Amino acid sequence: MNMMNPDISLSDEAPVSEPERQYYYIEKAKQYVKEEGEALGRTLTFCVTTFGCQMNARDSEKLRGILLKIGYVEAAEDEADFVIYNTCTVRENANTRVYGRLGQLKPRKKQNPHMMIGLCGCMMQEPEVVEKLKKSYRFVDIIFGTHNIYKFAELIVTRYESKRMVIDIWKDTDKIVEDLPNERKYAFKSGVNIMFGCNNFCSYCIVPYVRGRERSREPQAIIREIERLAADGVSEVMLLGQNVNSYGKTLEHPITFAELLEEIEKIDGIHRIRFMTSHPKDLSDDLIAVMGRSKKICRHLHLPVQSGSTRILEKMNRRYTKEQYLELVRKIRAAVPDISLTTDIIVGFPGETEEDFQETLDVVRQVRYDSAFTFIYSRRTGTPAAVMEDQIPEDVIKDRFDRLLNEVQTIASSVCAVHEGSVQEVLVESVSEHDHTMVTGRLSNNLLVHFPGDKSLIGSYVDVHLTECKGFYYIGKKI
Ligand code: 5AD
Ligand code: SF4
Repeated sequence: MNMMNPDISLSDEAPVSEPERQYYYIEKAKQYVKEEGEALGRTLTFCVTTFGCQMNARDSEKLRGILLKIGYVEAAEDEADFVIYNTCTVRENANTRVYGRLGQLKPRKKQNPHMMIGLCGCMMQEPEVVEKLKKSYRFVDIIFGTHNIYKFAELIVTRYESKRMVIDIWKDTDKIVEDLPNERKYAFKSGVNIMFGCNNFCSYCIVPYVRGRERSREPQAIIREIERLAADGVSEVMLLGQNVNSYGKTLEHPITFAELLEEIEKIDGIHRIRFMTSHPKDLSDDLIAVMGRSKKICRHLHLPVQSGSTRILEKMNRRYTKEQYLELVRKIRAAVPDISLTTDIIVGFPGETEEDFQETLDVVRQVRYDSAFTFIYSRRTGTPAAVMEDQIPEDVIKDRFDRLLNEVQTIASSVCAVHEGSVQEVLVESVSEHDHTMVTGRLSNNLLVHFPGDKSLIGSYVDVHLTECKGFYYIGKKI
């Protein structure tokens, strides 16, 4: 069956197998949406808002792909007939933001009863959240989780046919549905899921509970997707997984992440390969060797350290020590001298003392990261750390957080400046937001550069002289 133009008859029963079943429901939803549009005298519109990480951003592209196939057109959130929030729950403030936004939607929906509101993503995997929505947010139309995004069209049809709040949350899945539509944000670059879920159970982290057990896609499916993307004009791919370094371990025919990268390297038309996120405990020597010899893997590695204290790392269940982390950094720098390193750090994990915090500062000073995402520890119900004794008072955390941020930023601005005066290859991504005579491009090491140019350059690789470092980005000139 040709997935893009399937021969579907709605008088038949819905097919049982996927993705055929979803193409059937896309056709069915199309009819409902068309009828409703005719009644309103215009085409219905949608807006997908993404919270959280790159995995969510990629999931949103899948939602957009399905909605466009159904016949909706995209619009700004305040004009959309169908508003979807793809939510995150990694820290409590992500949840708070979603409730706030929902509160704002309520009066709008009251005035426009035809409006639909959909909620999906990690936050919906928490039973307390769904209970709260059922009780206090009755105006939400569709609620689904992280495991059944592919069923979006079917859920829309159920909503049209039942006229009730539709809730479909799965606890976990071993299923991966291939070949569904998706709509990329950028023509020239794309995220590619290589695995889903996480088995690490870091003691502070809710992800393993909301994204389920680790499952890898078959390498053939990944390669086929990237070949298609390349044929469609994509030259940069970002391989996505919560822990890409353990890719392939659970497949029937196991393959390592390093081996997968070597296969992707061979694909014509792909010029840049990025990946995230790497877990230090699983980053192999083979991977370092592949990065050292690759022409396409970008000179950037995001390597979350979380804490510099071995004692805290143990309580976090990270399964490496400070020394092992620093040794790993040394090996990577030896193999790829110009690599840019970035990280995630949590401040205020239960039991963290000033000495532990000093160890974190020490790692920051030794590694000299190009940038670091710093987070205040957030207590997530259901994780082991939430019930640990010795939760740190807010004022102590805030003080440490400020000191850490200051250190990270001072180091980052001097690390970034080392490329000043050099000429680097840049992938042009967009017209600059602040100055329309400039374009914005990305270096292999992930830093941004703004330089004079116009939109005809978008998607192309150009050599740019990095004239001036402005802290975290460059001003340059095309040569
Ligand atoms: N509190 C604060 N930060 C967290 N992260 C994950 N869980 C928590 C939490 N409970 C951070 C980690 C991770 C990043 C994506 O989010 O640093 O690497
Ligand atoms: Fe969370 Fe740890 Fe898995 Fe990352 S590796 S998603 S921090 S449990």
